[in-house]
Amino acid sequence: MRITVIGTGYLGAVHAAGMAAFGHDVLGVDVDAAKIERLAHGVAPFYEPGFPDLLRENLDAGRLRFSTSLEEAAAFGDVHFICVGTPQKPGSTSADMKFVDAVIEGMAPHLLRPCLIVGKSTVPVGTAARLTEMVARLSPAGEQAQVAWNPEFLREGFAVNDTLHPDRLVVGVASADAEATLRQVYATILEEGTPYVATDVATAELVKVSANAFLATKISFINAISEVCEAVGADIVPLATALGHDARIGNRFLAPGVGFGGGCLPKDIRAFLARAEELGIDEALGFLRNVDAINVNRRHSAVNLARGMLGGSLKDKRIAILGAAFKPNSDDIRDSPALSVANALQSQGAQVRVHDPEAIENARAAHPLLNYTSEVHKAFEGAQLAVHLTEWQEYRDLDPLHLATLVTTPHILDARNALDIDHWRAAGWTVRAMGRPAR
Ligand code: UDX
Repeated sequence: MRITVIGTGYLGAVHAAGMAAFGHDVLGVDVDAAKIERLAHGVAPFYEPGFPDLLRENLDAGRLRFSTSLEEAAAFGDVHFICVGTPQKPGSTSADMKFVDAVIEGMAPHLLRPCLIVGKSTVPVGTAARLTEMVARLSPAGEQAQVAWNPEFLREGFAVNDTLHPDRLVVGVASADAEATLRQVYATILEEGTPYVATDVATAELVKVSANAFLATKISFINAISEVCEAVGADIVPLATALGHDARIGNRFLAPGVGFGGGCLPKDIRAFLARAEELGIDEALGFLRNVDAINVNRRHSAVNLARGMLGGSLKDKRIAILGAAFKPNSDDIRDSPALSVANALQSQGAQVRVHDPEAIENARAAHPLLNYTSEVHKAFEGAQLAVHLTEWQEYRDLDPLHLATLVTTPHILDARNALDIDHWRAAGWTVRAMGRPAR
C-alpha cells in the first residue's frame, strides 16, 4: 500500500520505517527540513535502540522516502498517518492542537481522490470528529477522504519492537471500508494473532489517554505510599515487591522513585483533565490532579533529601547528577525529572555536573546553564554528593569502590531505587533512597 507518515519524531519516524518493513511504500513527511535530510541519508535524528538499522534497511530496499511537502504526501498516499506532536499549550493545561490542525489545513486542499487519514497522535476526545468536518470542508475529495483513529502505545527505548510487535491494535473507524483498509495496513501484525479492538473514533481516542492516565496513576500510587514509608521509616522497595506479587496488581509500572516525566504522561493527564473540564465532567477525573501533584512533589522530595544529606544547605556544594533523559535508553529530555532536580539544586546554590550516556546534547540545548560531562567519572570528581536520577544500566555497572576514591564525600542519593545499595554501602558510601529508611 502507499502510505504517508506525517511527523517524523520518536513516534512517526519509527512508524514510517515499521510500515516499510511490512512491505508498504512509505513517504515520511516533516516540516523540519534538517531532520528530513538526516532521515533520507539513513541518519537517525534521535537515540532509539534498533532504529538506525530499521531505517537503513528500508531506505536501501527502496520502500522508504522522505519529503517536506504535504502536497507530495497528498498525491502519493492512500493512507495518511498523522504522527505530529500534541504538546501542552503554553499557559494552559490543554493539548496544543496547532500541529495536527496545520497538517489537515496543509494537506486537505490537495486530496483529490479517496483516502484514509489515520490519527496516531494523542488528542483530546472529539478531535477525529472535528477533523472529519475540516477535511470534508477543505478537500476536493470531500467525504471520500475519511478520518480514523489508531492510537499508538509505543514506549521510547522499545519503539522498534512496540511498532513491529505491538501488544494490541486499536482502531477507531467510522465505516467498514476504513476498517478493511486498516486491516490491510496491519495484515502482518494481525497474522501474529495480536489482540485487535475495533471501535468508534471517540472510544479509540479515549483508549490512549485512559491507558496513559492509568499508568501515571499506578506510578503516583506507589510514590504516594513511598511518602508514607518516609514518614514512618518503612521501606517502599520490599513493599512494592509484595504488592506486585498480587497478579491483580502486577509489578510493572510500580517502581517508586522520582516519578514520571517525558513527552507523554505528564501532559496527557493534564490535557485529559482539561478536556473533562470542557465537557463539564471534571469531577470524574479529579483524582488526576492528585496524580500530577504527587508526581511533581517527588522532585521536591528528591531536592529536600539531597539538601538534608549535605547538612541542610546546598550552597556551593558539588553534586554529580547521574542522568538527564526522562528514562533510560532514550535521549528524550522532555519534562525530565532528572533535569528538573538538577536545575532546582543549582538554583539553590549547588554546583552540579550532569552526566548522561545519550541525552547531553539535548539537555545542553534546553538547559545551557547547567554543567555537563560526557564521562561519568568526571561527574564524580570532587563531588560531595551524587544523585542517581535516570536508571541507565551504565550506572548500575559502576564500581563504587573506585568512585569512592574520586569524590570528596562518598554520599549518594538513589532517586530511582535502581542501584544495589547494599553493594554501595559495603564500599563505604552513605546511601539514601526515595521511600527507604536511612541506615
Ligand atoms: C508512555 C506510555 O508507556 C506509552 O504507552 C505511550 O505510548 C507514551 O507514553 P514513554 O513516555 O516512552 O511511554 O515512557 P514510559 O516507559 O511510560 O515511562 C514514563 C515515565 O514514568 C518515565 O519517566 C519513567 O521513568 C517513569 N516510570 C515508569 C516510573 O517512575 N516508575 C515506573 O514504574 C515506570
